[in-house]
Amino acid sequence: MTHPIIFDTDPGVDDAQAIAIALAHPEIELLGMTTTYGNVDVSTATHNALLLAELADKSIPVAQGAAAPLVKPRHPAPAHIHGANGLGDIELPSLQGQAESRSAAQFIVDTINARPGEVSLVAVGPLGNLAAALQLDPTLVDKVKQVVVMGGSIREGGNVTPVAEANIFNDPHAAARVLTAGWPLVMVGLDVTHRCVLTPSHMARIEAGQGKLGQVLAGSYAFYRAFYQEMLGIDGCCPHDSCALAWLVKPELFTTHRGHLNVATEGEAEGQTIFAPENRGYIEPRWSQTPLADVCLGVDGDAVVEWITATLA
Ligand code: RIB
Ligand code: CA
Repeated sequence: MTHPIIFDTDPGVDDAQAIAIALAHPEIELLGMTTTYGNVDVSTATHNALLLAELADKSIPVAQGAAAPLVKPRHPAPAHIHGANGLGDIELPSLQGQAESRSAAQFIVDTINARPGEVSLVAVGPLGNLAAALQLDPTLVDKVKQVVVMGGSIREGGNVTPVAEANIFNDPHAAARVLTAGWPLVMVGLDVTHRCVLTPSHMARIEAGQGKLGQVLAGSYAFYRAFYQEMLGIDGCCPHDSCALAWLVKPELFTTHRGHLNVATEGEAEGQTIFAPENRGYIEPRWSQTPLADVCLGVDGDAVVEWITATLA
């Protein structure tokens, strides 16, 4: 089966690897990329998305989107994790192409309406573009095939605050709209991405298999890996965004649970994703009133990392 997708992204080192997968995997048809601020500002995200496709000799539409969160002020980009250029501060080749004139949200609306029921939205950055697309065309909830969100955390705790994951924390108001919109949605969060560790030997195989793009993936990975060594004490990194594509193509590697998602938008728990399992009664029912969604809580991490590596090697 082939999966036509729009990839919504803030590249970003782990985004770059996921983009390489989306460009390379025979079962993925990459219809376009939409960009958002997050790991970098949005113009750098757009530059990187265009450049990564060029390095793979592919011509893919890229539409620029959200430059800031819907409500809260924008946090500074995490240059200590992804580098100021989003790709580990390595020297990059110059870019030839340019972005679409359409906005990211309009691109999402047009692309899904052109193929109703067929297109999956895979979102691996803050969720402003998806929220804006819903605002433009609420009928997307019935026309998108599925929405795969890399973001959030239920049992694992956060990576920005004790409870909040970065993509959700960066725009909790957009995330609340997207995670409760009632479209077919799966959340691929830290509960599973932290179980996947891509080691230097995996990256050596990827570098060897990806030509010019492989040099950028490997060079940026070296920078990203230093952060993981310091923060989590692991020799390798968590390929968060590639896990969303692993779920799309190999869902059997994951365990999902169905239930209701909510997002804390204000206060100390800002950005926390809250999961109420389906049919579990609570004395306070308000957390169980959002539409049902699927949440990944278990994964065969070694198999996911092998799938990523084999796709790119
Ligand atoms: O928490 C992981 C997510 O935040 C990934 O999408 C990564 O690219 C970072 O932005
Ligand atoms: Ca990302």
